[in-house]
Amino acid sequence: MTENADGRRWWHGAVIYQLYVRSWRDSNDDGYGDLRGIIERLDYLSWLGVDAVWLSPTMPSPDDDWGYDVSDYTGVHPDLGTLADLDELIEQADQRGMRVLLDLVPNHTSSAHPWFADAASGREAEHRRYYVWADPQPDGGRPNNWLDFTGRPAWQWHDSGQYYLHNFLPGQPDLNWWEPAVHQEFARILEFWFERGVAGFRIDVANGLYKDAELRDNPPLDSDNPLEGVFGMRFVYNSNRPETHGVYRDWRKIAESYSPERLLLGETWVPDAQRLAAYYGDNDELQLGFNFPFALADLDPARLATIVEQTLAALPSGAGPVWMGSNHDLGRFPSRWCGGDERKIRLALLVLATLPGTTVLYYGDEIGMTDVDVPPALRRDHATLDLEGGADRDRARTPMPWDGSPGSGFTGPGVTPWLPMADPPVSTVADQRDKPESTLSLCRRLLALRRTELGRGLADFENLAVTEGVWTYRTGPLVVAANFTDRPADMPAEAGEVLLTTSAEQAPPSPGVLGPWEGVVTRRSGSAAGHDQL
Ligand code: GLC
Repeated sequence: MTENADGRRWWHGAVIYQLYVRSWRDSNDDGYGDLRGIIERLDYLSWLGVDAVWLSPTMPSPDDDWGYDVSDYTGVHPDLGTLADLDELIEQADQRGMRVLLDLVPNHTSSAHPWFADAASGREAEHRRYYVWADPQPDGGRPNNWLDFTGRPAWQWHDSGQYYLHNFLPGQPDLNWWEPAVHQEFARILEFWFERGVAGFRIDVANGLYKDAELRDNPPLDSDNPLEGVFGMRFVYNSNRPETHGVYRDWRKIAESYSPERLLLGETWVPDAQRLAAYYGDNDELQLGFNFPFALADLDPARLATIVEQTLAALPSGAGPVWMGSNHDLGRFPSRWCGGDERKIRLALLVLATLPGTTVLYYGDEIGMTDVDVPPALRRDHATLDLEGGADRDRARTPMPWDGSPGSGFTGPGVTPWLPMADPPVSTVADQRDKPESTLSLCRRLLALRRTELGRGLADFENLAVTEGVWTYRTGPLVVAANFTDRPADMPAEAGEVLLTTSAEQAPPSPGVLGPWEGVVTRRSGSAAGHDQL
């Protein structure tokens, strides 16, 4: 494929690094990571070999949900820096060949947003229709049975005599996408950032936006898959509405009017490949949608192979998948998939780096960082703090461990970081950087190999077999063999010359054998470097 020789679908083959800004690098010793901290460490990202960064929310916010409650869509949160800092970050990243994506939250605003302040001022207010208001039932009850993401009713009574809808916290009122002015506002917001050189957006709650016009009750849930619904309720009328697709068709036209084309990467919280593919439309909606069934699967090769195959089959022609194992909500794959086992972490990195399409690494994945047990008294995720058996999303949001100095290279000595560092300390970037056998070095080698062997474009992919826990697949000119078991296994016949192994010894234990939890990237016999998929 030559589709992106001109930089058009630059995300095909790319590695995007999700960077939780508050936890990456604190440049001014206030305990919070910030934009200048990212600028200081851009060389690290360039050394690692990533193509783009996605910054967790950077816009002004009262932080009921750490920036996912936006009070100004064209600003920068003062804790994180200034618009000038963001401009400089984009410029400096560009000089190193990297792009910058921001997080956009179109499903809801903060209740502190001026639109909501006006909307709440009275039923005739100019911005009233920007939000979802509904009259009480004749008995004063709530308009319907919808619950918010904490399991509490999704309707907040307001003294203007109506309820307003919040699928998340009461401080995050849902926008009303039936209102044309909301579309115009967001078209302007997209253009504002695209003009500044932002390469695209990760779109929060991308399958939200429109709500059923009649506000019908959600039906009961008959599945234990959290992607179908929660709290006994199937997500039917409060999300996944057909009208949402029109928003992305409009946004795609805006994205395509820029050069290079801007990327729309959706948080598509849907349970299967068909419903995921629907958000790509006829290749005229989102260019990428996150694959939650993949991320939520166990480290089970048969299951992963099936999801990969079904995803590739479902996507419209010319569109690519995106893979990730960790994020700021789900937790880190080194814990969830791998239970902290270094061999499994290295194997999972190999899979993530060699699947076709786009891969998103979460900060710390590259050093095999596991979740951190944050004591309840130090937790900062207000959204889940008082939930019994709550999600505890803080475990995957703790500061990046750069080195063994006081402050761990994240912040200055003596400064208390906003969330605690891992205790006992985990292996740091400095510990791993110069050790060829480290997970960080392996990750860097994998990204380099991906670049030279798979190149840009969508590598041609074929599942070859999953036999007794060994997953073998062809990806471009490569054959990957990955042993998902505790036992040594025979090297599959399709494997050719070994280019890379996940074994810390950097060589298979004996020729023709895969060690327990070892994966190898091999060159398919008869194929030369990086030629036949480009
Ligand atoms: C998304 C974000 C999550 C946030 C929620 C509400 O799921 O990833 O962190 O709490 O949306 O905006």
